[in-house]
Amino acid sequence: MSNSPEYEGKAKQLIPTDDRNVVIQRFKNSATAFNGVKKGEFEGKGALNNAISSLLFSKLEAAGVPTHFISWDNATDMRVHRLQIIPLEVVVRNHVAGSLQKRTGLGEGTPLQPSIVETYYKKDELGDPILADTHVFALGILNADELETVKKAALAVNDVIRPVFADAGLKLIDFKLEFGWDSAGRLILGDEISPDTCRIWDAETNTKLDKDVFRHDLAGLIESYSVVAEKLGVDLNNPVEA
Ligand code: TMP
Ligand code: ASP
Repeated sequence: MSNSPEYEGKAKQLIPTDDRNVVIQRFKNSATAFNGVKKGEFEGKGALNNAISSLLFSKLEAAGVPTHFISWDNATDMRVHRLQIIPLEVVVRNHVAGSLQKRTGLGEGTPLQPSIVETYYKKDELGDPILADTHVFALGILNADELETVKKAALAVNDVIRPVFADAGLKLIDFKLEFGWDSAGRLILGDEISPDTCRIWDAETNTKLDKDVFRHDLAGLIESYSVVAEKLGVDLNNPVEA
């Protein structure tokens, strides 16, 4: 068994195991923004994102939402089922922020009722453009039934994790998900759910506690992610509840 990554992304590596259908997802300390234009290294980021993701995935599994998560293995490593990732970034929005704010001119933080699900083409060289459903079909990424499955699953994820954040005094503004096919041909949730891939605000003060602090130089990344972990009650050495 080789320990060298079979895939290296901007924030994670995938390392093969002796089971073909199981891989180690290793969380790196590097952060990038604006499609890799801005870069930084933050000691402890990998451990924070691995622990927060592990907790959220375990809550999703407990609620019957299938994910690739198998186990939290150590500070930086999560054991997951191998997926063939679909080239879509599926974004759920509960409040206006980021690119939706730019596209609509609505005020940052405006609540969205109902929550919105959007799909973006996962293609760095194109800058991940937004896709209409018809584009998803015409590009042969998913058919109508599959896209409906993905959108329903994205909203099911929101229904589980939004209250988890709310109970911790945090507002889940928006987040990005990735889905893929497992070895049994099921379309399930992969990737991570962390302050790198969500917008999370303090519910009382609206202080930003996610990657926007790095994107826009608002505050310390580790300090902000640590507040999220603390409020969620995440034990960095044993994040998944028994
Ligand atoms: P956006 O408002 O920039 O479109 O981002 C929506 C959500 O998706 C936000 O929670 C940040 C997350 N996101 C990623 O995880 N990766 C990305 O490459 C981008 C652009 C956004
Ligand atoms: N994930 C993208 C990057 O690494 C963009 C972002 O999150 O802002 O550059």
